[in-house]
Amino acid sequence: MAAPRHFLQFNDFSREEFEHIFARSAWIKQQFKSYQQYWPLVDRTLVMIFEKQSTRTRLSFEAGMHQLGGTAIYLNTRDSQLGRGEPVEDAAQVISRMSDIVMIRTFEQTIIERFAANSRVPVINGLTNEYHPCQILADIYTYIEQRGDIRAKTVAWIGDSNNVCNTWLQAAEVLDFQVRVSTPPGYEVEPERANLHGTGHFQQFADPMEAASGADLVTTDVWTSMGFEAENEARLKAFADWQVDTEMMKAANPDALFMHCLPAHRGEEVAAEVIDGPNSVVWEEAENRLHAQKALMEFLLLGRVTGKFLERQ
Ligand code: CP
Ligand code: NVA
Repeated sequence: MAAPRHFLQFNDFSREEFEHIFARSAWIKQQFKSYQQYWPLVDRTLVMIFEKQSTRTRLSFEAGMHQLGGTAIYLNTRDSQLGRGEPVEDAAQVISRMSDIVMIRTFEQTIIERFAANSRVPVINGLTNEYHPCQILADIYTYIEQRGDIRAKTVAWIGDSNNVCNTWLQAAEVLDFQVRVSTPPGYEVEPERANLHGTGHFQQFADPMEAASGADLVTTDVWTSMGFEAENEARLKAFADWQVDTEMMKAANPDALFMHCLPAHRGEEVAAEVIDGPNSVVWEEAENRLHAQKALMEFLLLGRVTGKFLERQ
């Protein structure tokens, strides 16, 4: 049996594969918008395993699989044996014999890697402490939809160097754009944790205004990610000067977009005038999780599809 492809980190796919997935996202979105049924995954089953909470990821994968003609099953740590210490390797053996594709939201990246190493079917990272590749897939698709090719453009990341930030940094290397990061002292990017190749696609700035300067896209995320709640009070203090506000958006290019993976905290990492303002595309970004992940599942299960048909190699 050939080893399945997985999407555990953004750099698991090549630029050319992303170009295919973005093109398919657009086609799949158009079908959805015009009530055209597209059921290439009839009889296929997606298992979604959540060890952390979610609104968008669960909804977009579950609705997406149904819209492609398949079925989605939701498991969480609380009411499955996963919460009672069954080894990840054993769970992977069993779950992947009863399903066609698996999505996991968990803590350490090593957990999803151990699962994938024992899975017969493709595994998708629905967020780990280290990465959130499905989010950046949708974010870049949104950028392309709004502004065209992201190659050679500049993204400003303001705030915590978390899972979403690490994934932007990987994406910059794969798709050849720049990321300007500004974090408070002590919260800087750890290139090893981000698993970068050091291709010179990112720069760190102590001053967030400098990072935002001339950016084509300004983006941020919560100051305290899931699993780090004990640090919340210290982080509120440390990040106070890292809010994306109107002044910071003015430092960016006049037509710069604002993105946030959501959920957001108005008055913390972003001012209400920015997230609810004219440069913000956060609702389009959230919706595109659905279309981009449908294209991702199509690619992992069927390979390259053009139109409604599989392409003969
Ligand atoms: N952005 C995102 O992944 O949202 P959820 O936590 O609601 O899934
Ligand atoms: N960085 C956030 C993203 C939530 C979608 C977290 O990990 O909690």
